[in-house]
Amino acid sequence: MFRFKDYYHNEVHLSFEEHPFSEKPKHVWVICRYGNRWLLTIHRDRGYEFPGGKVEKGENPSDAALREVKEETGASVSKLHYVGQYKVLGKEKTIIKNIYYAEIDEIIPQADYLETEGPILFETLPTDIGRNRRFSFIMKDDVLLKSMERILERFM
Ligand code: GTP
Repeated sequence: MFRFKDYYHNEVHLSFEEHPFSEKPKHVWVICRYGNRWLLTIHRDRGYEFPGGKVEKGENPSDAALREVKEETGASVSKLHYVGQYKVLGKEKTIIKNIYYAEIDEIIPQADYLETEGPILFETLPTDIGRNRRFSFIMKDDVLLKSMERILERFM
């Protein structure tokens, strides 16, 4: 288990165990790989980030992951791997998110990408994300770094 602070100084707990914080997390985050590139979405308010969002009523977290990736990038997932889970102890509430690694087989242009401007592809992620204003705050803490290390060692 890892403990650190996020961009807004909220406490974050991250673990790569099987659902350590909740069997039914209400949020998902999906690290997407399309061929030899990373697939992110351009969130209108937050900037570049891996797609994700809230699990809807009656949905499983893995269904939510597939839906969010499609809605925010137009991509269809050929393989979805559970990576881990993190908990953010916010001032108002605590949220728990499942982290997935998704292999993408196709990106189909959509008429509307909801609160995002759609997909953006990167061959490599910049090393200055922490200071880069184009990137979302959710990309600026150790969840990204540690999840990427885990994905490289387990799935790539
Ligand atoms: P509503 O219930 O629709 O109003 O959602 P919300 O705007 O309160 O946001 P949400 O429930 O998604 O998240 C609550 C708070 O948790 C946000 O304001 C963020 O500060 C924080 N949060 C959400 N997702 C992440 C994340 O991936 N990483 C970090 N560090 N914080 C997050």
